[in-house]
Amino acid sequence: MDPGKQITLPLLMTVGTAVIGSLQFGYNTGVINAPQKIIEKFINETYFERYQDPISKSSLTAIWSISVSIFSVGGIFGSFSVGFFVNRLGRRNSMLIANILAFIAAALMGFSKMASSWEMLIIGRFIVGLYSGLSTGFVPMYVGEVSPTALRGALGTLHQLGIVVGILIAQVFGLEMIMGNDEFWPLLLGFLFFPAVIQSVLLPLCPESPRFLLINKNEENKAKTVLKKLRGMTDVSADMQEMKEESRQMMREKKVTILELFRSPLYRQPLIIAVTLQLSQQLSGINAVFYYSTRIFEKAGVKQPIYATIGAGVVNTAFTVVSLFVVERAGRRTLHLLGLMGMAGSAILMTIALALLDQLKWMSYLSIVAIFAFVAFFEMGPGPIPWFITAELFSQGPRPSAIAVAGFSNWTANFIVALGFQYVEELCGAYVFIIFTVMLLGFFIFTYFKVPETRGRTFDDIAAGFRQTANAGAEKHSPEELNSLGADSQL
Ligand code: GLC
Repeated sequence: MDPGKQITLPLLMTVGTAVIGSLQFGYNTGVINAPQKIIEKFINETYFERYQDPISKSSLTAIWSISVSIFSVGGIFGSFSVGFFVNRLGRRNSMLIANILAFIAAALMGFSKMASSWEMLIIGRFIVGLYSGLSTGFVPMYVGEVSPTALRGALGTLHQLGIVVGILIAQVFGLEMIMGNDEFWPLLLGFLFFPAVIQSVLLPLCPESPRFLLINKNEENKAKTVLKKLRGMTDVSADMQEMKEESRQMMREKKVTILELFRSPLYRQPLIIAVTLQLSQQLSGINAVFYYSTRIFEKAGVKQPIYATIGAGVVNTAFTVVSLFVVERAGRRTLHLLGLMGMAGSAILMTIALALLDQLKWMSYLSIVAIFAFVAFFEMGPGPIPWFITAELFSQGPRPSAIAVAGFSNWTANFIVALGFQYVEELCGAYVFIIFTVMLLGFFIFTYFKVPETRGRTFDDIAAGFRQTANAGAEKHSPEELNSLGADSQL
């Protein structure tokens, strides 16, 4: 096998440890669905104990909706703060320190019942949202930086695999016979404590990103030692050469702030692509399915909606694995296009099924097939690719800021869909998925015309491609302007 394509044990362990962070994000995305009724009962009883009065329907709905959606608010703040940590502490130590948040959140949620406090539940959800927002930046960045070029997509997809496995575990644990009951729901919510312990023990055994060591810290020997370990070979000169080249190119942009990122014509193109791809992930409507699937299945006349929901979780996981194996062969662009088109087709199928349900009973089966297909196509491209392609589109200097902006866009869109879907559904009924279809087609057109293929290309090569584009438009900007923004002297 080509040595550059080798998956060594240290590399696998390093990536595996990092994606525990992704698993935590997925788990907390999925965990709140099943126990809704039981937690509402707890809020109800606690309210009565405090005020000797039953809680009003509207206050209950408000407390519940805040508990659910404050997670994304935490995510928005967390994802935006990524750059603050990774440049100071390094990639690995940032992940390690973030676990403090996981421990605090686990304690607050796990003991909320004992303390008769729904406030602890809400604060806990916010803090685990912060943690998850940070993870969605830290993990793809670290994984992208430790991976050999030929495996960057496959290993990058492991972030999404961590997320979907987390969602699936949460769905299964949330069954009434497991932890989705009066007695064990605090444990269900506090469960994130255990992955946090495992990650805190393993991370110190993982190396710092060699790109961070060399390009940010100028520690050549350390970078070399780490690379040798990760690649499982003594000759790492090709990797070192490539990183040095990137370092040389980026001499004047060691660190790019978010403001500079927006101002620079150099980064405009990749930034628009990164943000649009994140939006294509969320505005595809995937979380309308994940947050509301049980309700959608119920409406479609499915007898045991909870099992159909778990079915969707299984399909979700299975197709992420498929993507993992094909992404280095088929390429990012192709898979993203295929995924978006397939989702658009499935959304149309779902609309037909929901619209004809009253006339034809078997349409409920078609709706299950349509939802499963929707999820499967999502995981072929729009699920995994936006997360790791952001790290690929930028070189070392602007990467943290770019990941922060992209993550912020993702979480904000996630929050909007989570809050807005119910209302829009009430307005449009069976036709709600038409809105997503239109957006999916829009994102398809954008991807077709604007997104370059990044498979098999080094970070430096990808950045050089964008420099050329920016250069072509350089007449509009003075050379001084480009230079001051860190453009290479060749420009
Ligand atoms: C992606 C999305 C997340 C969604 C998940 C579903 O990771 O970012 O919001 O819930 O996929 O698999």
